[in-house]
Amino acid sequence: MQQLWGSRFSKKAEKIVNDFNSSLPFDYKLYKYDIEGSIAHAKMLALQGILKEDEADKIVSGLAEILDEINEEKISFNLEFEDIHTNIEKLLIEKIGETGKKLHTARSRNDQVALDIRLYLRDEIKNIKKLILKVISSLLKLQNEHTETIMPGYTHLQRAQAITLAHHLGAYVEMFKRDFDRLNDCNKRVNVLPLGSCALAGTPHNIDRNKTAELLGFESVSLNSIDGVSDRDFIIETLCAISTIMMHTSRMSEEIILWTSFEFKFAELDDAYSTGSSIMPQKKNPDVSELIRGKTGRVYGDLITILTVMKSLPLAYNKDMQEDKEPLFDGVSTVKTCLEILSPLLLSLKFNKENMLKAVNKGFLNATDVADYLVEKGVPFREAHRICGNLVKYAEENDLTLNELPLEKYREEFEGFGGDIYEKITPYVSVNSKKSAGGCAFDAVKSVITENEKWVFEHENN
Ligand code: ARG
Repeated sequence: MQQLWGSRFSKKAEKIVNDFNSSLPFDYKLYKYDIEGSIAHAKMLALQGILKEDEADKIVSGLAEILDEINEEKISFNLEFEDIHTNIEKLLIEKIGETGKKLHTARSRNDQVALDIRLYLRDEIKNIKKLILKVISSLLKLQNEHTETIMPGYTHLQRAQAITLAHHLGAYVEMFKRDFDRLNDCNKRVNVLPLGSCALAGTPHNIDRNKTAELLGFESVSLNSIDGVSDRDFIIETLCAISTIMMHTSRMSEEIILWTSFEFKFAELDDAYSTGSSIMPQKKNPDVSELIRGKTGRVYGDLITILTVMKSLPLAYNKDMQEDKEPLFDGVSTVKTCLEILSPLLLSLKFNKENMLKAVNKGFLNATDVADYLVEKGVPFREAHRICGNLVKYAEENDLTLNELPLEKYREEFEGFGGDIYEKITPYVSVNSKKSAGGCAFDAVKSVITENEKWVFEHENN
């Protein structure tokens, strides 16, 4: 069979060329968007009098039938026809005859593929957003269960100050909220109609691009036909947003791996979310978290691939751009699987409150509280820091905690220390003293949880 563009060629392309050229093995995934776009295009052409009404009807119902047949797996595509766009057009012509040949009026595969990817991405952005909301809801549930679960907070992976588990998890809630917003922002630039740019210059036919945009639910139409077919920045920024989500899930996974290790013992993995070793019978491995961490590298690779493909392309369309789809599809499906498994994994964790509290009591996590106590007594913070440093040094040398240090020792360093210092530096009082907005005091965290529950509710319902 001849290619749709075959007439100016005197020879058929070699099979190896066809195979190399074909994007069908991966872009077949776009079939429903390709059909959706073609249906809107045909309707617009009819409204503009470019197609007769009955011609458009024939095209639209032919395409709808093809969609059903593909969904029912009744159709096999032909690799010889390069890509999904050509395959569907060929199928249409086979099905409805000559009228099918009119569909490609005032359109090129260049604007067609740009349209299809935008339709695909718009849908997938919605799906990823839903999964983010689910992860946030799971985190909020855990936060509510652990508003008063004390644990060590870290800097440099060294014990730093006491916090609550709710507060720690709340940090991820904020990260995922920003990820959600970032996707919304990307969507503003994805949701623009490129169709009508044609090959690169627009068309002499009297098309109505705003009508097509309206039929497809696009917010606006692209304003430069060269730009409409040339850029893939909307893929790049979405993959960047997706990479950021992966970075957040990876950091969380890293912490789950640490927390469930024998060294930390802050949490235990559920059997259903861990795996064993083929040789060491005692092992319970955090494979799921490790895979999320590992897959993050793959998604960064997807972003770098498309950035590199685009970096020196002259305007307008170049076949290099066919290489946009595999990294995009891979990034999208990877982030979706990772987010999907993260929610139940989080909810299956069993936290060991006792071990977390034990860890808080060793390592001078309350040293800053001693300094803050002195500041309340009027000592300048730098001076308070120095006094407290001496106390820590002494305590460390004598294998004592700050709670065990005798009052006389405190008074040796600063005579204004009172007996109330011991109460001030207990973990509960210490945590609860951080009442600054966004701080770790129980009530401060509880009010943020309530605010974020409202945020989820509002975003789930619009
Ligand atoms: N399969 C092509 C792609 O994904 C579609 C556009 C082809 N355009 C062309 N002028 N060869 O980029």
